Amino acid sequence: VSTNIRDHEIDWSNSIFLSMQFEVGRSGKFNEFLTTFLKCLSVDRIEYVENWYQEQTDQTEDAEIGDWVVQRRCPHLRADLTKTGKVDDDGILTCSMHDWKWDLNTGRCLSTSGHPIRSTKIDEVTDAVLREAS
Ligand code: FES
Repeated sequence: VSTNIRDHEIDWSNSIFLSMQFEVGRSGKFNEFLTTFLKCLSVDRIEYVENWYQEQTDQTEDAEIGDWVVQRRCPHLRADLTKTGKVDDDGILTCSMHDWKWDLNTGRCLSTSGHPIRSTKIDEVTDAVLREAS
């Protein structure tokens, strides 16, 4: 354990458990949260896991960022875009977690292929709501 702490090891399940030879038993259910935690002792990994678990319960949540309604979770590693997202005057959203960019006018990722984002300009949302109400 002290070696892992000194070396800032991020995957304790491999560095400790797979390096030992021992027999072990378990009573009760497998605790996936503990095992996953021991594999993710870095900010990037734990953020990814937390967001993955959250996404399993809410895949459709949107949020307002500037003049846009966008999916709340970053298409890259699921960062909360209400905290990491910034939109410039041209409708380019940048996620500060890894500096990936999206053109909100098209939803296209400008940093890599794939990874589109769901986005709508707020004026368009308001118009759609008003059309539905009338
Ligand atoms: S989480 Fe990587 S760019 Fe958003």
